[in-house]
Amino acid sequence: MTLVDEESKDRHQSLGLGSGVRAANVVRRSLHREDDKVVDGNDGNSPASVGTTDRYWDRLALVAVGDERRRRTLERSRLFDQEAERYDRCRPRYPDVVIDELLGPEPSGLEVLDVGCGTGIAARPIAERGAKVLGVELAPRMAEIAHRHGIDVEIGAFEDWDAAGRSFDRVTSAQAWHWLDMPAATAKAASILRPNGSLGLIWSGGAHPDDLADALEDVYSTVVPSGTHRLFRGYGANRSTDVRAGLTGVVDAITGAPDFGAVTERWFPWTQRYQRDEWLELLLSYSEYAALEPNLRHRLLDAVATTIDDHGGSFLMDFETVLITAKRLG
Ligand SMILES: C[S@@+](CC[C@H](N)C(=O)[O-])C[C@H]1O[C@@H](n2cnc3c(N)ncnc32)[C@H](O)[C@@H]1O
Repeated sequence: MTLVDEESKDRHQSLGLGSGVRAANVVRRSLHREDDKVVDGNDGNSPASVGTTDRYWDRLALVAVGDERRRRTLERSRLFDQEAERYDRCRPRYPDVVIDELLGPEPSGLEVLDVGCGTGIAARPIAERGAKVLGVELAPRMAEIAHRHGIDVEIGAFEDWDAAGRSFDRVTSAQAWHWLDMPAATAKAASILRPNGSLGLIWSGGAHPDDLADALEDVYSTVVPSGTHRLFRGYGANRSTDVRAGLTGVVDAITGAPDFGAVTERWFPWTQRYQRDEWLELLLSYSEYAALEPNLRHRLLDAVATTIDDHGGSFLMDFETVLITAKRLG
């Protein structure tokens, strides 16, 4: 799958369950403190905060005992959470036109639920347009950063999240919906949307120049042992012709939900130039790079760096952001 993060392979199952959500409540309360000092009056990097977050993941791991797939998913999510600051620094932003299309002509005052809000990369521009945004996010460190940027966040898995009677004009999810149990998440989105409200899903996919993509293909197949699952290469996994692969499951889940009208799919092209080191940092924001054995990771990143240097030290990524929308029928 090209469009989405590799984490889709280990798509989150319903993780929160009772104990996950209870564990999360410790952090959730803190994310609504008015002074923005997260957890026991410390900032997000303090030992108290880290300890609280570790206990949260430990408790989720206990829920996953005996379920190998869920255990692996949690392990990966936890690594991902540890890269939260890097994620926020270096992951691409979304084009303004996509956020505008998502919200429509009168964004001010809309109530928006952003699922898997992460550090708020999509939630922030939504809020800047005057909408009232609430995030739901599984990973506490990601949520802390979003909160630092002014976004209210409730921590836990969306599939288990208690809407407590609230409803929304938009349910959005950027670069995250594939992590979820899609039929369950789609039905839940329908249940909390107001009539004529809409679901809006965003992903960005990108391609290196084809000659660089080919050279990187050689690097990965040489350095990474065969049998290791294919590393996602930071949006530009494949050749330029492959960018649009991978949305069938998303669209099918919405089409199969009786409460939604027709699905629209719009694509927005844009470009971004990456210097070598910016690209390496982006790669490190993927959990699978954090999970690599350190020597292998160094060898791989060295080889990627050399390849980019051989191509002039920087390159232009051709991105496309897709916006999938569907209206909640009245
Ligand atoms: C690739 S990040 C995207 C973050 C943000 N929306 C953005 O555009 O940068 C995916 C996020 O979804 C979160 N996530 C994964 N499964 C989730 C679930 N079941 N419920 C809520 N959030 C989830 C992850 O913790 C992660 O922060």
